[in-house]
Amino acid sequence: MTDLRHPEPLDPKRHDRSGFDSGAAELDEWLRRYAGQNRRRDTAATWVITDTEDTVVAYVSLAMTGIDRAAAPRPVRQHSPDPVPALLIGRLAVDRSVAGLGVGTALVAHVLATAVELNLSAACRAVVVTALDQHARTWWERLGFESFDPTDPDNPDLYLLTADIEATLRSLR
Ligand SMILES: CC(C)(COP(=O)(O)OP(=O)(O)OC[C@H]1O[C@@H](n2cnc3c(N)ncnc32)[C@H](O)[C@@H]1OP(=O)(O)O)[C@@H](O)C(=O)NCCC(=O)NCCS
Repeated sequence: MTDLRHPEPLDPKRHDRSGFDSGAAELDEWLRRYAGQNRRRDTAATWVITDTEDTVVAYVSLAMTGIDRAAAPRPVRQHSPDPVPALLIGRLAVDRSVAGLGVGTALVAHVLATAVELNLSAACRAVVVTALDQHARTWWERLGFESFDPTDPDNPDLYLLTADIEATLRSLR
């Protein structure tokens, strides 16, 4: 595999996103057209993994969010304010050229470490994500994310308590 860099914030001037192809056109398009805008407006921060030529091979966008307490699963809701403070993984995609090599997992490990840091400075009870499809949902569950509603296989919303992140990171090492 080509050498890859550690995750870093997207630099629209330096990072090449033009050929990014995850197989999910909407996610590719968002990286090209909207990631920079969202950063400028402070509505989403995009982190990328690139090769040594600055070509993006994976990205994730993050934002702070509040979970509606009434709709939250018990472990999130318990002893929490409304809304429950959380970190939202808005989008995550890996270029097909490096699929299945652990790049997506490495990016998630970076996000989870970010959540632990954020939790110290601003409090963040959980990391949440909406799975793109059933394949993505299984992939997130493999990383320790749990369904908002385990009785509904069609509910794409998933969470990981910040309190459980250390254990998840250990299992990924
Ligand atoms: C989903 C996606 C991010 C995965 O990225 P990736 O870098 O290929 O994933 P990784 O290489 O880190 O993970 C591969 C591991 O997960 C396993 N895996 C892959 N798909 C899986 C699935 N559906 N269920 C369970 N395990 C799965 C592989 O067997 C492999 O395990 P191993 O490390 O033990 O061999 C990537 O396929 C992608 O960008 N898809 C399109 C966009 C998308 O669905 N994004 C998620 C947004 S919610």
